[in-house]
Amino acid sequence: MLHHSTQLRTILSTVPGGQLFVLTDSHTAVHCLPLLAESIGKIPYHVLTIEAGEESKCLSSVQVVWDFLLKHHATREAMLINLGGGMVTDLGGFAAATYMRGIRFMNIPTTLLAMVDASSGGKTGFDYQGIKNVIGSFTQPEATLIDPDFLRTLPVGELLSGLAEMFKHGLIASPRHWQELLAWDIHGQDIATLAPLIADSIAIKERIVAADPQEKNIRRTLNFGHTIGHAIESAMLHNAVPHGTMQHHTYHGHCVLWGMVAEVYLSVVHAGCPREVLTMLTHLMVEYYGRPECNCQQREQLMQWMIHDKKNKVAGGALPQINFTLLRDVGAAVIDQVLPPKDIQEAIEYLFSI
Ligand SMILES: NC(=O)c1ccc[n+]([C@@H]2O[C@H](COP(=O)([O-])OP(=O)(O)OC[C@H]3O[C@@H](n4cnc5c(N)ncnc54)[C@H](O)[C@@H]3O)[C@@H](O)[C@H]2O)c1
Ligand SMILES: [Zn+2]
Repeated sequence: MLHHSTQLRTILSTVPGGQLFVLTDSHTAVHCLPLLAESIGKIPYHVLTIEAGEESKCLSSVQVVWDFLLKHHATREAMLINLGGGMVTDLGGFAAATYMRGIRFMNIPTTLLAMVDASSGGKTGFDYQGIKNVIGSFTQPEATLIDPDFLRTLPVGELLSGLAEMFKHGLIASPRHWQELLAWDIHGQDIATLAPLIADSIAIKERIVAADPQEKNIRRTLNFGHTIGHAIESAMLHNAVPHGTMQHHTYHGHCVLWGMVAEVYLSVVHAGCPREVLTMLTHLMVEYYGRPECNCQQREQLMQWMIHDKKNKVAGGALPQINFTLLRDVGAAVIDQVLPPKDIQEAIEYLFSI
C-alpha cells in the first residue's frame, strides 16, 4: 500500500468511471505498479507500458500515449497517473498537458531523481532531433505523491544520480541540508533515514520554483553544476557505443556532480567560496562517483558543448556567452556569472586531475 493511499483515493473518487489511466515503463510496471494497484483498489483503470530508457522520451512515445487515451475514449475529465522516473513524468506530463488541451494528471515518482527534481516544478517535455527536452510545457500536475519505499528496488547508480541533485540543493540553498546529506551513510543505503532528507530537498526546490516559476532569475540557481555537467553528459553520450553492444550508462546526476566539482573550483577562484567545500565535494566524487570517461579530445571539446547549450542566449549576434551559477558559500548562490574561457578550462583540468 502507498504511503499516500488516502490522498490518492480522495482524488480518484472525483474521476468518472473508465477515465483513469496509468503510464509506466517496462521496469516500473514490474517493480512499482503492484504497490499502486493495491492502493487504487477496485476502481478500474487502463495501463500503458512503454520501454524503459531515455530513448523512449520521444515524439513517437507521446503519440503512443495520445493514441492510448483516444482508443479508450478519454475525455476532458480523464486522469493520467505517471508512475516512474523522470522519463515517465516528463513524457506523461506533456501528453496530458496537450491531449484535449489538457487533462488532469498526477505524478508518482519512483526514482530518487524524479522525487527530488523531475516530478516537481511543472516542466514537462521530450527530446527531439537529438536535443534534450527541446519541446515541452510548463504544466503543474494535480498532485505529486512521494513514497520512498519505491527506492528499495532502484539500482544503486540511479540512487547516487538522484543524490547528486540533492547535494546541489544543499549547496545552492541550505547549509543544513548539505551537512545532513554528508552525514547520511551512503554505503548503508537506509531508505528510512533518507526519507526526511528527500522531503527537505523537495521543499528547497519548490521554494525556489515558487519564487520564480518561469526561470527568469532565482530558479537559475538550480542550474548549478549543469553548465559543465551537461557538456560532460553530451560528450559521454556522444561517445556511447552503438546499440546492442555493452556500454556504460551515463547517469545525469553523476555528470552534475562532476560539473559541480568544476564549478565549485570556479566558485573558489571567482566568488570567494571556502576551499573546504571543494575538498568535501572532491572527496565525495572520489569515494562514490568515480571519474568522467572523456578522452583528451573530448575534454578540449567540452567548451564547444557548453557554447551549444540552449540556455546561453546570443546577444546581438555576438558569440554565445557561457553563464554560470557560482557559490559565494554553501547556501549562497549567484547567477549569471560570465567567466574567462581560460579559467573554465583550468576548472576542467582540475576535474580531470583528480
Ligand atoms: N522536468 C524536470 O524538471 C526534470 C528535472 C530533472 C530531470 N528531468 C528528466 O528526468 C529524466 C531522468 O529521470 P530518471 O533519472 O528518473 O530516469 P528514468 O525515468 O529513465 O529512470 C531511470 C531507470 O530507473 C528505472 N526505475 C524507475 N523506478 C524504478 C524503481 N522504483 N525500481 C527499479 N527501477 C526503477 C527506470 O525504468 C529506468 O530504467 C531525464 O529525461 C531528464 O531530462 C526532468
Ligand atoms: Zn539535473
